[in-house]
Amino acid sequence: MSPAKALHIKTYGCQMNVYDSGRLADALAPLGYRLVDGAEGADLVILNTCHIRAKAAEKVYSEIGRLRPHKARRRAAGGTMLIAVAGCVAQAEGAEIARRAPDVDLVVGPQAYHRLPELIARAHRAGGVVLDTDFPVEPKFDHLPASDRPSAISAFLAIQEGCDKFCSFCVVPYTRGAEYSRPADALVAEARDLVAHGAREITLLGQNVNAYHGAAGGLGDLVARLAALPGLLRLRYTTAHPLDMDDRLIAAHRDVPALMPHLHLPVQSGSDTILAAMNRRYDTDTYRRVVERLRRARPDIALSSDFIVGFPGETDRDFAATLALVAEIGFAPSFSFKYSARPGTPAAAREGQAPERVKAERLAALQQLLDTQAEAFHHRAVGGRATVLFVRPGRHAGQLAGRTPHGHAIHAPAPTHLLGTEAVLAVVAAEPHSLTGRLVETGVGRAA
Ligand code: 5AD
Ligand code: SF4
Repeated sequence: MSPAKALHIKTYGCQMNVYDSGRLADALAPLGYRLVDGAEGADLVILNTCHIRAKAAEKVYSEIGRLRPHKARRRAAGGTMLIAVAGCVAQAEGAEIARRAPDVDLVVGPQAYHRLPELIARAHRAGGVVLDTDFPVEPKFDHLPASDRPSAISAFLAIQEGCDKFCSFCVVPYTRGAEYSRPADALVAEARDLVAHGAREITLLGQNVNAYHGAAGGLGDLVARLAALPGLLRLRYTTAHPLDMDDRLIAAHRDVPALMPHLHLPVQSGSDTILAAMNRRYDTDTYRRVVERLRRARPDIALSSDFIVGFPGETDRDFAATLALVAEIGFAPSFSFKYSARPGTPAAAREGQAPERVKAERLAALQQLLDTQAEAFHHRAVGGRATVLFVRPGRHAGQLAGRTPHGHAIHAPAPTHLLGTEAVLAVVAAEPHSLTGRLVETGVGRAA
């Protein structure tokens, strides 16, 4: 084993990046890299970046600026600090990053992470930047080593990556490539390993997670297989596309108790014209029917969504249709964004780009409605009981925090030994973003 070297990873964007950062740390552990909290004094800093909106992508350049003095100090002291840009900005901007930010030593796309050890060795030898943004034939997952770190109680498991849907606003099909599903047997083995290392809840991740086809019966089958693992209490999956909600998966929401009744199912817009322009491949009636089928299978299911306002060509009437759909469906806490024109995507070149002022006004109106619904969602839980999986210490001493099945964040006074177990809580109060509970019964749920 080589002597310990300090590795700092800063993660931006989606949960897939959080998952990938964990795997990057695993891949570098055999080379002697140990994770540290701050960038100062690190031998290697990895920025795991997001390209989904312009704002997210720009953050990486300001962060590189902040790292510059640390790197210079390190060099003055006779050491080295390598700066690596990973993730979707690396994939999308490649060599452009090295041009804009000469302090970067290494640019590595999401499909090349298994080659990182070799790339680091090359970066140490090379004077300039080392770049790897190829899409290899063999999937990266098969080449990343298994983890020997303890798992989070609520862990992530990437089951598919990439997307073939090509929504006209979205960079994902370009940065993450074609849809690829990991084989079910490998996933069951990895999930078993996560449980052995302490996981009690697993969130299955994918850019288009329910397009999963690594098991004969799709995601519904995989969910059933994983739910049978002893010690695994809860399953969730994200992010789902409305068109890929097949019968088997919907039936799993009825038949598999471990599958939590909370689903993130982005609709993006309530206007059929805009949905067509977005190439979402469904209209609002199709979305309504999916919601009906889900609610028939699991009447208490909570649904959340993503929305984009100010898409090119969106009129006041189109936007009013989005507000009307939100009012009709009733969403759990959701996300809304101003449309951001991304280079290389079809919508970026279209006429009818909305002025910033219009986007800001529409975003404020939509967020106000969504906030009202989120508040109502939290308040409905008060006075009832919820089975909560405690996943971490609370903000105050003597508290633990976790989630209800419907996805509310909740905290309660509870002893530390209940971490990783489910308990029944009486919900006593709602704050804007979380609930307060009181312990009623412990030791519920399946034994680990
Ligand atoms: N502009 C604004 N929001 C976007 N999203 C994806 N691409 C863009 C874009 N170009 C949003 C979508 C998606 C979420 C992850 O990000 O709502 O569901
Ligand atoms: Fe992007 Fe659409 Fe694919 Fe989601 S389904 S990742 S929004 S292209």
